[in-house]
Amino acid sequence: MSDKHSIIEKNLGLMIVLILVAISFGGLAQIVPLFFSSETTEPVEGLKPLPALALEGRDIYIREGCHVCHTQMIRPFRAETERYGHYSVAGEQVYEHPFLWGSKRTGPDLARVGQRYSDDWHRVHLNNPRDVVPVSNMPAFPWLFDNTLDGAKTGDKMRALSRVGVPYTEQDIKGAEAQVSGHTEMDALVAYLQQLGTLIKQKR
Ligand code: HEC
Repeated sequence: MSDKHSIIEKNLGLMIVLILVAISFGGLAQIVPLFFSSETTEPVEGLKPLPALALEGRDIYIREGCHVCHTQMIRPFRAETERYGHYSVAGEQVYEHPFLWGSKRTGPDLARVGQRYSDDWHRVHLNNPRDVVPVSNMPAFPWLFDNTLDGAKTGDKMRALSRVGVPYTEQDIKGAEAQVSGHTEMDALVAYLQQLGTLIKQKR
Protein backbone atom coordinates (compact mmCIF):
# COMPACT_ATOMS: atom_id res chain seq x y z
CA MET A 1 0.00 0.00 0.00
CA SER A 2 2.64 2.52 1.01
CA ASP A 3 4.59 1.52 -2.11
CA LYS A 4 1.66 2.36 -4.33
CA HIS A 5 1.24 5.65 -2.56
CA SER A 6 4.84 6.60 -3.10
CA ILE A 7 4.46 5.82 -6.82
CA ILE A 8 1.67 8.39 -6.97
CA GLU A 9 3.54 10.92 -4.89
CA LYS A 10 6.61 10.71 -7.07
CA ASN A 11 4.72 10.90 -10.34
CA LEU A 12 3.35 14.43 -10.68
CA GLY A 13 1.35 13.79 -13.87
CA LEU A 14 -0.43 10.81 -12.35
CA MET A 15 -1.13 12.71 -9.15
CA ILE A 16 -2.69 15.62 -11.08
CA VAL A 17 -4.96 13.24 -12.99
CA LEU A 18 -6.05 11.45 -9.83
CA ILE A 19 -6.68 14.75 -8.01
CA LEU A 20 -8.88 15.89 -10.92
CA VAL A 21 -10.84 12.62 -10.78
CA ALA A 22 -11.35 12.99 -7.03
CA ILE A 23 -12.48 16.62 -7.33
CA SER A 24 -14.87 15.93 -10.21
CA PHE A 25 -16.65 13.29 -8.13
CA GLY A 26 -17.11 15.87 -5.40
CA GLY A 27 -18.41 18.41 -7.90
CA LEU A 28 -20.82 15.97 -9.54
CA ALA A 29 -22.16 14.90 -6.16
CA GLN A 30 -23.13 18.54 -5.53
CA ILE A 31 -24.36 19.48 -8.97
CA VAL A 32 -26.22 16.46 -10.35
CA PRO A 33 -28.92 16.25 -7.62
CA LEU A 34 -29.94 19.85 -8.43
CA PHE A 35 -31.14 18.75 -11.87
CA PHE A 36 -33.63 16.42 -10.21
CA SER A 37 -34.63 18.31 -7.07
CA SER A 38 -38.14 19.76 -7.36
CA GLU A 39 -37.03 22.79 -5.33
CA THR A 40 -34.81 23.90 -8.19
CA THR A 41 -36.86 22.69 -11.16
CA GLU A 42 -40.47 23.48 -10.12
CA PRO A 43 -41.78 27.05 -10.35
CA VAL A 44 -42.89 28.71 -7.10
CA GLU A 45 -46.66 29.04 -6.69
CA GLY A 46 -48.16 31.64 -9.00
CA LEU A 47 -45.09 32.01 -11.23
CA LYS A 48 -46.07 33.10 -14.74
CA PRO A 49 -43.92 33.77 -17.78
CA LEU A 50 -43.19 37.48 -18.25
CA PRO A 51 -45.93 39.41 -20.09
CA ALA A 52 -44.94 40.70 -23.55
CA LEU A 53 -43.95 44.24 -22.54
CA ALA A 54 -41.96 43.11 -19.49
CA LEU A 55 -40.20 40.51 -21.64
CA GLU A 56 -39.00 43.28 -23.95
CA GLY A 57 -38.00 45.24 -20.84
CA ARG A 58 -35.85 42.35 -19.72
CA ASP A 59 -33.98 42.41 -23.03
CA ILE A 60 -33.40 46.16 -22.61
CA TYR A 61 -32.13 45.50 -19.06
CA ILE A 62 -29.59 43.09 -20.56
CA ARG A 63 -28.70 45.39 -23.48
CA GLU A 64 -28.03 48.35 -21.18
CA GLY A 65 -25.89 46.22 -18.86
CA CYS A 66 -27.98 46.82 -15.75
CA HIS A 67 -26.92 43.36 -14.55
CA VAL A 68 -23.29 44.47 -14.56
CA CYS A 69 -23.96 46.77 -11.59
CA HIS A 70 -27.04 45.11 -10.08
CA THR A 71 -27.46 41.56 -8.80
CA GLN A 72 -30.81 39.78 -8.68
CA MET A 73 -29.92 37.33 -5.95
CA ILE A 74 -30.69 37.99 -2.29
CA ARG A 75 -28.59 35.70 -0.15
CA PRO A 76 -30.07 34.07 2.97
CA PHE A 77 -28.21 36.28 5.45
CA ARG A 78 -29.85 38.61 7.92
CA ALA A 79 -28.09 41.72 6.60
CA GLU A 80 -29.45 40.95 3.13
CA THR A 81 -33.00 39.96 4.03
CA GLU A 82 -33.41 43.02 6.31
CA ARG A 83 -32.44 45.29 3.45
CA TYR A 84 -33.88 43.61 0.37
CA GLY A 85 -36.62 41.24 1.58
CA HIS A 86 -37.06 37.47 1.43
CA TYR A 87 -33.99 35.68 0.08
CA SER A 88 -34.16 34.54 -3.54
CA VAL A 89 -35.34 30.98 -4.17
CA ALA A 90 -34.58 28.80 -7.20
CA GLY A 91 -38.26 28.26 -8.03
CA GLU A 92 -38.59 31.97 -8.90
CA GLN A 93 -35.96 31.57 -11.61
CA VAL A 94 -37.11 28.54 -13.57
CA TYR A 95 -38.37 30.63 -16.52
CA GLU A 96 -35.24 32.82 -16.65
CA HIS A 97 -33.13 32.23 -19.75
CA PRO A 98 -30.46 33.34 -19.06
CA PHE A 99 -30.73 34.07 -15.35
CA LEU A 100 -29.52 37.52 -14.24
CA TRP A 101 -28.17 36.80 -10.77
CA GLY A 102 -25.04 38.83 -11.47
CA SER A 103 -22.00 38.86 -9.27
CA LYS A 104 -21.19 42.51 -8.65
CA ARG A 105 -23.14 45.08 -6.68
CA THR A 106 -22.15 48.58 -7.64
CA GLY A 107 -25.80 49.40 -6.99
CA PRO A 108 -28.32 47.64 -4.74
CA ASP A 109 -29.72 44.16 -5.42
CA LEU A 110 -32.88 44.39 -7.56
CA ALA A 111 -34.34 40.91 -7.03
CA ARG A 112 -37.35 42.40 -5.14
CA VAL A 113 -37.38 45.99 -6.33
CA GLY A 114 -40.83 45.46 -7.92
CA GLN A 115 -43.51 47.78 -6.41
CA ARG A 116 -40.98 49.38 -4.03
CA TYR A 117 -41.14 52.64 -6.00
CA SER A 118 -43.78 54.17 -8.27
CA ASP A 119 -43.53 53.98 -12.07
CA ASP A 120 -42.87 57.73 -12.09
CA TRP A 121 -39.98 57.35 -9.65
CA HIS A 122 -38.34 54.82 -11.99
CA ARG A 123 -38.84 57.09 -15.00
CA VAL A 124 -37.27 60.08 -13.28
CA HIS A 125 -34.48 57.90 -11.84
CA LEU A 126 -33.59 56.23 -15.14
CA ASN A 127 -33.73 59.56 -16.97
CA ASN A 128 -31.20 61.01 -14.52
CA PRO A 129 -30.57 59.18 -11.22
CA ARG A 130 -29.23 62.39 -9.60
CA ASP A 131 -32.70 63.96 -9.78
CA VAL A 132 -33.93 61.61 -7.04
CA VAL A 133 -30.72 60.30 -5.43
CA PRO A 134 -28.28 63.27 -5.40
CA VAL A 135 -25.18 61.16 -4.57
CA SER A 136 -25.96 58.46 -7.16
CA ASN A 137 -23.23 57.38 -9.56
CA MET A 138 -25.60 55.33 -11.71
CA PRO A 139 -25.49 56.33 -15.39
CA ALA A 140 -28.49 58.09 -16.99
CA PHE A 141 -30.51 56.29 -19.69
CA PRO A 142 -32.54 59.14 -21.28
CA TRP A 143 -32.74 57.52 -24.75
CA LEU A 144 -35.16 54.93 -23.38
CA PHE A 145 -37.87 57.63 -23.68
CA ASP A 146 -37.09 58.21 -27.36
CA ASN A 147 -36.92 54.63 -28.63
CA THR A 148 -40.32 53.19 -29.52
CA LEU A 149 -40.88 49.44 -29.82
CA ASP A 150 -42.82 47.80 -32.64
CA GLY A 151 -43.08 44.35 -31.04
CA ALA A 152 -42.41 42.65 -34.37
CA LYS A 153 -40.08 40.09 -32.79
CA THR A 154 -41.71 39.70 -29.38
CA GLY A 155 -43.77 36.69 -30.45
CA ASP A 156 -40.70 34.99 -31.88
CA LYS A 157 -38.84 35.55 -28.62
CA MET A 158 -41.70 33.92 -26.73
CA ARG A 159 -41.72 31.01 -29.13
CA ALA A 160 -37.99 30.50 -28.62
CA LEU A 161 -38.45 30.58 -24.85
CA SER A 162 -41.33 28.11 -25.05
CA ARG A 163 -38.96 25.65 -26.73
CA VAL A 164 -36.87 25.63 -23.55
CA GLY A 165 -39.86 25.11 -21.31
CA VAL A 166 -41.37 28.55 -20.63
CA PRO A 167 -45.14 27.92 -20.86
CA TYR A 168 -46.22 30.66 -23.27
CA THR A 169 -49.52 29.84 -24.97
CA GLU A 170 -50.32 30.38 -28.67
CA GLN A 171 -52.60 33.20 -27.52
CA ASP A 172 -49.73 34.91 -25.63
CA ILE A 173 -47.57 34.67 -28.73
CA LYS A 174 -50.23 35.98 -31.09
CA GLY A 175 -51.13 38.91 -28.82
CA ALA A 176 -47.54 39.92 -28.12
CA GLU A 177 -47.04 42.41 -30.91
CA ALA A 178 -50.19 44.36 -30.07
CA GLN A 179 -49.18 44.60 -26.40
CA VAL A 180 -45.73 45.95 -27.18
CA SER A 181 -46.21 48.06 -30.29
CA GLY A 182 -46.15 51.82 -29.69
CA HIS A 183 -44.68 51.60 -26.17
CA THR A 184 -41.32 53.20 -25.43
CA GLU A 185 -38.34 51.25 -24.19
CA MET A 186 -38.84 53.10 -20.89
CA ASP A 187 -42.38 51.67 -20.54
CA ALA A 188 -41.00 48.18 -21.16
CA LEU A 189 -38.12 48.48 -18.71
CA VAL A 190 -40.35 49.88 -15.95
CA ALA A 191 -42.89 47.07 -16.56
CA TYR A 192 -40.04 44.59 -16.11
CA LEU A 193 -38.70 46.24 -12.94
CA GLN A 194 -42.12 46.51 -11.32
CA GLN A 195 -42.76 42.76 -11.36
CA LEU A 196 -39.33 41.73 -10.03
CA GLY A 197 -39.61 39.49 -7.01
CA THR A 198 -43.21 40.37 -6.21
CA LEU A 199 -44.39 36.76 -5.80
CA ILE A 200 -42.69 36.29 -2.46
CA LYS A 201 -43.15 38.94 0.20
CA GLN A 202 -41.07 39.20 3.35
CA LYS A 203 -43.06 38.28 6.45
CA ARG A 204 -42.12 40.86 9.05
C1 HEC B 1 -22.46 51.80 -13.27
C2 HEC B 1 -23.32 51.01 -12.41
C3 HEC B 1 -24.82 51.02 -12.66
C4 HEC B 1 -25.49 50.68 -13.81
C5 HEC B 1 -24.93 50.27 -15.17
C6 HEC B 1 -26.89 50.73 -13.48
N1 HEC B 1 -27.07 51.09 -12.18
FE1 HEC B 1 -28.83 51.21 -11.19
N2 HEC B 1 -27.88 51.87 -9.52
C7 HEC B 1 -26.52 52.04 -9.40
C8 HEC B 1 -26.23 52.64 -8.11
C9 HEC B 1 -24.86 53.01 -7.58
C10 HEC B 1 -27.47 52.81 -7.45
C11 HEC B 1 -27.73 53.43 -6.05
C12 HEC B 1 -27.98 54.93 -6.19
C13 HEC B 1 -29.29 55.22 -6.85
O1 HEC B 1 -30.36 54.82 -6.32
O2 HEC B 1 -29.29 55.85 -7.93
C14 HEC B 1 -28.49 52.30 -8.36
C15 HEC B 1 -29.85 52.24 -8.07
C16 HEC B 1 -30.80 51.66 -8.88
C17 HEC B 1 -32.20 51.46 -8.50
C18 HEC B 1 -32.82 51.77 -7.15
C19 HEC B 1 -32.67 50.52 -6.28
C20 HEC B 1 -33.15 50.71 -4.87
O3 HEC B 1 -33.45 49.68 -4.25
O4 HEC B 1 -33.20 51.83 -4.38
C21 HEC B 1 -32.82 50.89 -9.59
C22 HEC B 1 -34.27 50.49 -9.69
C23 HEC B 1 -31.82 50.78 -10.63
N3 HEC B 1 -30.62 51.25 -10.16
C24 HEC B 1 -32.08 50.27 -11.89
C25 HEC B 1 -31.13 50.21 -12.91
C26 HEC B 1 -31.45 49.81 -14.26
C27 HEC B 1 -32.81 49.37 -14.75
C28 HEC B 1 -30.27 49.89 -14.97
C29 HEC B 1 -30.06 49.63 -16.45
C30 HEC B 1 -30.85 50.45 -17.35
C31 HEC B 1 -29.24 50.29 -14.04
N4 HEC B 1 -29.80 50.50 -12.82
C32 HEC B 1 -27.91 50.44 -14.39
C33 HEC B 1 -25.57 51.69 -10.34
C34 HEC B 1 -25.83 51.28 -11.63
